[in-house]
Amino acid sequence: MELTVRAPQTESEWTAYYDLRYRVLRQPWGQSVGSEKDNNEESAYHFALYKDATLIAVVRLDEKNQSEFQVRYMAVEPSYQGQGMGKVLFEYVMGFCASKNATEIILHAREIALPFYRAMHFEIVEKSHLLFNEIQHYLMRKID
Ligand SMILES: CC(C)(COP(=O)(O)OP(=O)(O)OC[C@H]1O[C@@H](n2cnc3c(N)ncnc32)[C@H](O)[C@@H]1OP(=O)(O)O)[C@@H](O)C(=O)NCCC(=O)NCCS
Repeated sequence: MELTVRAPQTESEWTAYYDLRYRVLRQPWGQSVGSEKDNNEESAYHFALYKDATLIAVVRLDEKNQSEFQVRYMAVEPSYQGQGMGKVLFEYVMGFCASKNATEIILHAREIALPFYRAMHFEIVEKSHLLFNEIQHYLMRKID
């Protein structure tokens, strides 16, 4: 088994990338296909974790200002959740941020994902938005 983190490359890899995002972060709340994308996809960094050729997890990284990053749209394939795969992908992205001399890394975490991000050395700054009228989010930032 080989784990690889890289951006999707082929058209079918991009389709699978957005489909995983959709199935985990949008479909359970009855959102339509297309709602998993926003206007910043082209300027963002995209990372996908593959186990051999199988897509396992996805995440996007936005550079908000120079050296300030925001992690977005993190999703692990449901059958692989809780098996350390999210950690592998997230730590890769943290390494990428370090290579860009990041001064601040933030994210908006769903309540259910708070234990994961705490384990990834993030702390809550404040309660933020309510998505789809029901998913409470919390602004978190990486502790140095
Ligand atoms: C949240 C999510 C990204 C975490 O990825 P994952 O692969 O399931 O998490 P991992 O197995 O890599 O967990 C890494 C560490 O985080 C901690 N952790 C993760 N989930 C936890 C939980 N529910 N309770 C306590 N600790 C938890 C653990 O310390 C774990 O390490 P350990 O099992 O070796 O002790 C993934 O479960 C997911 O996609 N969930 C649904 C979508 C979602 O909520 N995305 C985030 C949007 S903000």
